Amino acid sequence: MQWDIEGRSAIVTGAGSGIGRAVALRLGQYGVAVGIVDLDASRAEATSQEIQKLGGKALALAADVADSARVAEVVAHARETLGSIDYLVNIGGFHQRIPIQEITDSHWHRMLDVHLSGTFYFCRAVLPGMITRRFGRIVNMSSLHAFGKVPFAAHYSAAKAGIAGLTKALAVEVAPHSILVNAVAPGPIDTPLWRDGLTGSALDARIAKRIQAIPLGRLGQADEVAETILFLLSRANSHITGQVIGFNGGELMA
Ligand SMILES: NC(=O)c1ccc[n+]([C@@H]2O[C@H](COP(=O)([O-])OP(=O)(O)OC[C@H]3O[C@@H](n4cnc5c(N)ncnc54)[C@H](O)[C@@H]3O)[C@@H](O)[C@H]2O)c1
Repeated sequence: MQWDIEGRSAIVTGAGSGIGRAVALRLGQYGVAVGIVDLDASRAEATSQEIQKLGGKALALAADVADSARVAEVVAHARETLGSIDYLVNIGGFHQRIPIQEITDSHWHRMLDVHLSGTFYFCRAVLPGMITRRFGRIVNMSSLHAFGKVPFAAHYSAAKAGIAGLTKALAVEVAPHSILVNAVAPGPIDTPLWRDGLTGSALDARIAKRIQAIPLGRLGQADEVAETILFLLSRANSHITGQVIGFNGGELMA
């Protein structure tokens, strides 16, 4: 096996679409039992069915990651059905383009609740088991937005910067238990979230404009981000922790 992860168990949030779905399908393909968490129950079920049809083990878990009590239930259910959770990949989320003066309290709180609190709730729920077993790998989803450059989404940028900070704080705290915690920070990735409903010439124009800022000259693909996440989860990564890995075609060189 390329990544030497067969027989492990994972939870992936936002696994009904885009990057989360690509990660879940790969984990299933490599013999990891996957808890498929998504706000959209039918999407979670579809990803789970896809993995099972290919001979893998998966469990659809409809949940809003911002609901602390539901997160605790989902993690307990996944543990009972799939076994101890070895890998957690926090991906579920959404984007909103809104000028700062139009961001309401409700926009602000929902954005922080889903991205930052949701990531925290899942980490808090899986870490006791990982600490007991002295094994675990967590990958969180930050963004290029965490580092500035992209206007009209201050609440999204703040949430993604918060995830970068949370990742580092957790990484240093759980390192003595041999648990690795990292984040990825993608630039534009060609998913339903990035396309935002655009099709045809409107989409082509958006892509043409956006890739001007990207030295590699193209958008990233969900499968490519998934490969990077699998590397971070796998035995191939033995010493990278507390890092926020840029995945942006060279748009931001840290
Ligand atoms: N696509 C990009 O350009 C890009 C760039 C940087 C970061 N990201 C981040 O990557 C993650 C995935 O994005 P994507 O492009 O694959 O989007 P996507 O819309 O294709 O998939 C996101 C999934 O998350 C689910 N989700 C949304 N809110 C949820 C909630 N409250 N609880 C549970 N599930 C929820 C959605 O139902 C959806 O299935 C997001 O956190 C996003 O902010 C995306």
